[in-house]
Amino acid sequence: MLPKRRRVRTGSPHSAVTSSTPPATRFPGVAIYLAEPRMGRSRRAFLTRLARSKSFRILDVYSSDVTHVVMEGTSAKEAICWQKSMDAVLPGCPQPALLDISWFTESMAAGQPVPEEGHRLEVAEPRQEPPSSVTVPAYACQRPSPLTHQNTFLTEALETLAEAAGFEGNEGRLLSFYRAASVLKSLPCPVTSLSQLRGLPYFGEHSSRVIQELLEHGTCEEVDQVRCSERYQTMKLFTRVFGVGVKTANRWYQEGLRTLEELREQPQRLTQQQKAGLQYYQDLSTPVRRADAEALQQLVEAAVRQTLPGATVTLTGSFRRGKLQGHDVDFLITHPEEGQEVGLLPRVMGCLQSQGFVLYHQYHRSHLADPAHTLRRSSTLDAFERSFCIFCLPQPQQTALEGALHPCPTWKAVRVDLVVTPNSQFPFALLGWTGSQFFERELRRFSRQEKGLWLNSHGLFDPEQKRVFHATSEEDVFRLLGLKYLPPEQRNA
Ligand code: UTP
Ligand code: MN
Repeated sequence: MLPKRRRVRTGSPHSAVTSSTPPATRFPGVAIYLAEPRMGRSRRAFLTRLARSKSFRILDVYSSDVTHVVMEGTSAKEAICWQKSMDAVLPGCPQPALLDISWFTESMAAGQPVPEEGHRLEVAEPRQEPPSSVTVPAYACQRPSPLTHQNTFLTEALETLAEAAGFEGNEGRLLSFYRAASVLKSLPCPVTSLSQLRGLPYFGEHSSRVIQELLEHGTCEEVDQVRCSERYQTMKLFTRVFGVGVKTANRWYQEGLRTLEELREQPQRLTQQQKAGLQYYQDLSTPVRRADAEALQQLVEAAVRQTLPGATVTLTGSFRRGKLQGHDVDFLITHPEEGQEVGLLPRVMGCLQSQGFVLYHQYHRSHLADPAHTLRRSSTLDAFERSFCIFCLPQPQQTALEGALHPCPTWKAVRVDLVVTPNSQFPFALLGWTGSQFFERELRRFSRQEKGLWLNSHGLFDPEQKRVFHATSEEDVFRLLGLKYLPPEQRNA
């Protein structure tokens, strides 16, 4: 900041900034706007006077005449967000160069504008549209949702509230929070001010209030209270057990149960699946790594190849969406010749069991002779032949020295789902099993509400014309729904 004495001599900073007479300029192609947020008003006034004294053209107000925007202490991401907010005010305005203050000071020292290279505030990723209602479509299946996004801090809070609402059986509230979180996941830049939410779909009073609190204080009391509550923590603990859903967890909670030890003491009330879930709880609550998923794929592929040559194994679920970690590993098995896949799974399981890879499995026959029946009933439940398993996955061998220093177990329990689909239903099964769960939910809602069609993992059905659609790829399914194709890694809604 300028020392007081000089400030008096050169006049009030405010008067300099708001001066309406355009001063003489030597560089007609350069019209500079000094963006104030990090700069502060008095420093901006000082820099304005300095530049004008050197015959640079400084504009007090941002307009379409501005060619160079100068910012201080601002990251490229913030700068681009700022630019987007200005675009919203002045749509169609040519985009000025976004420059760090270093360009300004070097230009002042040189007495003329220096090249912009090396001073630009820009990020490597391609420029995207600003967050606004115009560019965020209502359904998650209409917009890309990449694996990583700019608003994790905010979405995690909203998702905690969604999850807590789910624990209370409040479906409406769960959806509101998940929808708001999903919108934030699709934004190209971080939300730093509440005004950026204006016009975004699904931002009601409650979600907006949560975001406001997070932006202002860095925490949200409601979210913190939920996270610390006995209710939330216990429901989370119980629902992490393989085979335990919200209903069962809630019943146990209402009966006063709070710990896994208490569950283990009452084996008579546990299903076989839940017993296995508790037995391997530690391993199953540790994230599965991509390397584990790939190793499992090789095991399953070998068993499938041995059982039915020509049958294929496709990795789906979160790993297909590009995640590096997951809670389980999901595989789809099919054969190009329809009908060949029938009865395949028990033989594959037998093969894997004989090699000692299966710690637990529960086999389900395909329970419908006519799988399209699920569509006609508008059911979202799969009728595929499938196995819910816990695999014993050998872990990479350590050298003798490594083993002595940091002994690691030689195997790890991993949850695996194996699903068999007839070839004609494969594109729908692949789409349905790739997720995310919320993306699938939105896809089905879009189909029904916007297109009047029923979609599930078996197919797509027109209830009016009583017609089942044919598809040979996921792209086909998107096309049938009139949606732009989104690759798996953009379905992380
Ligand atoms: P997952 O529950 O395995 O989730 O279901 P995920 O996305 O792979 O994430 P993590 O890492 O395991 O937690 C994968 C997809 O399969 C569908 C779900 O809707 C989800 O989109 N699915 C799952 C079914 O269609 N039917 C089921 O019975 C289970
Ligand atoms: Mn999964």
